[in-house]
Amino acid sequence: MGLMTGKNVVIFGIANKRSIAWGIAQALHREGARLALNYQNERMEEPVRKLAAELPGNTFLAPCDVTVPGDIDRFFDRLGKEFGPLDGLVHSIAFAKREELGGNFVDTSWDGYALAQQVSAWSLIALCKGAAPLMAGRDASVVCLSYYGAEKVVTNYNVMGVAKAALEANTRYLANDLGPKGVRVNAISAGPIKTVSAMGVADFGSLLDTMAQKSPLRRNVDQADVGNAALFLLSGLAHGVTGQTLYVDAGYSIMGV
Ligand SMILES: NC(=O)c1ccc[n+]([C@@H]2O[C@H](COP(=O)([O-])OP(=O)(O)OC[C@H]3O[C@@H](n4cnc5c(N)ncnc54)[C@H](O)[C@@H]3O)[C@@H](O)[C@H]2O)c1
Repeated sequence: MGLMTGKNVVIFGIANKRSIAWGIAQALHREGARLALNYQNERMEEPVRKLAAELPGNTFLAPCDVTVPGDIDRFFDRLGKEFGPLDGLVHSIAFAKREELGGNFVDTSWDGYALAQQVSAWSLIALCKGAAPLMAGRDASVVCLSYYGAEKVVTNYNVMGVAKAALEANTRYLANDLGPKGVRVNAISAGPIKTVSAMGVADFGSLLDTMAQKSPLRRNVDQADVGNAALFLLSGLAHGVTGQTLYVDAGYSIMGV
């Protein structure tokens, strides 16, 4: 019997094999979870459907773009009817316009700021609201993905750093709101990993190089490292943990000079 046997988890944010959400899906599947997945739009349906087929036992796949009015409600309505109650939710989605992920932070536009907040931070609140009726009385757990740029200045991360700061604050407020209903909410602050989203940050390669050279473990982390940490937070092993940001960054964040 696996750590997640008998548990239903919905994962938002698989785009391809490099996605952190795919690493999380693999860890949860290995431990016996039944998974439901979203795909952002029609273009992404085919690749996500192919990946889902690699995890036998998946019974649910549906579109959800968090910026499309009604999409979140439609997704959870179908999920409730076709998949059942939920023991876990993974929020592994973020977006900012490429022009906001480089250059001077002072040039951030309102449109770019608002879009980054909507997709990367507000959506955690909206997905928790949609999932709450399905998680009631289930001892459920929510996990989202953050980055060090939420608390320290990381060159070029700019508007996404501010969105991640909001995401981590959302994590704490949601943990307080949903705790009395038995729902835990935590964030993982992952070290840099080469994914499609990450490549949108100007000079991303230098973040990988710096971490490999300066972190206590002298290496980068990968999707499996984050997947296993998410597994812990989603499982009963983390029964007493909520509102926290767990660093999965080879220790980089503890370093001073
Ligand atoms: N890769 C890294 O270095 C790193 C480090 C720390 C945290 N993170 C975070 O991990 C999460 C996953 O990113 P990733 O690196 O795996 O990249 P990715 O590109 O594989 O995943 C990003 C996902 O966000 C989804 N998305 C974007 N806009 C959306 C919208 N409007 N509606 C619904 N879904 C939308 C995409 O479809 C995609 O599946 C993000 O929150 C990211 O900020 C990434």
